[in-house]
Amino acid sequence: MFEAQPTALPGRNDPCHCGSGKKYKLCHLRKDQAAAPSTARVKRPAPVMGLEPAAGGRGARAATLIKTPEQIAGIRKAGSLARQLLDLLDERIRPGATTEDIDRWVRDATAAAGAVCAPLNYKGFPKSVCTSVNEVVCHGIPEERVLVEGDIVNVDVTPILGGYYGDSSRMYEVGRVSAEAHRLVEVTRECLDLGIRQVRPGGHVGDIGQAIQAHAESNGFSVVRDFVGHGTGVIFHEEPQIPHFGRRGHGLPLRPGMVFTIEPMINAGDWPVRILADGWTAVTRDGSLSAQFEHTLLVTPDGVDVMTA
Ligand code: MF3
Ligand code: CO
Ligand code: CO
Repeated sequence: MFEAQPTALPGRNDPCHCGSGKKYKLCHLRKDQAAAPSTARVKRPAPVMGLEPAAGGRGARAATLIKTPEQIAGIRKAGSLARQLLDLLDERIRPGATTEDIDRWVRDATAAAGAVCAPLNYKGFPKSVCTSVNEVVCHGIPEERVLVEGDIVNVDVTPILGGYYGDSSRMYEVGRVSAEAHRLVEVTRECLDLGIRQVRPGGHVGDIGQAIQAHAESNGFSVVRDFVGHGTGVIFHEEPQIPHFGRRGHGLPLRPGMVFTIEPMINAGDWPVRILADGWTAVTRDGSLSAQFEHTLLVTPDGVDVMTA
């Protein structure tokens, strides 16, 4: 996920993004403004992640909202590798393993597949995967820490294969975990599934956030605001942004060929986060548990295709 930031929407006098041919100010401007998270509630840190060079595989060009068939084929291969990497960890994550072990397992398997780990050296990130344990919301850095029975850990992998990115994460329960931790993990998994079910041409980005937010909050949990899903595939983090909260019918209309992640971070307590002194690790301010699942998705002519399944 990346930090929520202002979205590149059309200028007031540019054609509207919905394809109506009308000027943006006469079409979706007001609706989009209503859908935008209010600045009072959402921290919008400065770094803009849209300016990265593409990884440079064949056919990988500048990022665009709509991917070509060739790009989609490449993203699908990277996505299926991401899934295999996460599957590999099912058996291995158990009490006694360290988060550095996870980093090494993923790094070695990624290299064996002829791919590269996107997180390594990404804006200075020091490791090959993110490992986020218990109250860590995201961007946890693998270290000596030994996992113990009862921990919950998210592992987020992004292999670059043939120049294309596949971004996916899931939760692992270490041994037996508390009933409350298990419920958080299951509700978060359901949030991602419900978000995915909203994806179809003619739908809106806000439909995804609304479905996720409703399910999390009706279970007494909260949705993290500071990090959002994102376009991906040709560049690690592209437009559009995909908030995991929002209003049905609002936000960017979805069109076939769009590729983006949905990656809800759900807290057992309240949603504010803070970043540790390492500059990366995001934790819940109230110390409550946090969980996350992530898939990379393609909008198809009749719905959605999960590229990391
Ligand atoms: N994989 C993360 C995401 O879902 C991004 C990690 S950036 C890193 O977008 F630098 F922390 F690796
Ligand atoms: Co992501
Ligand atoms: Co990710």
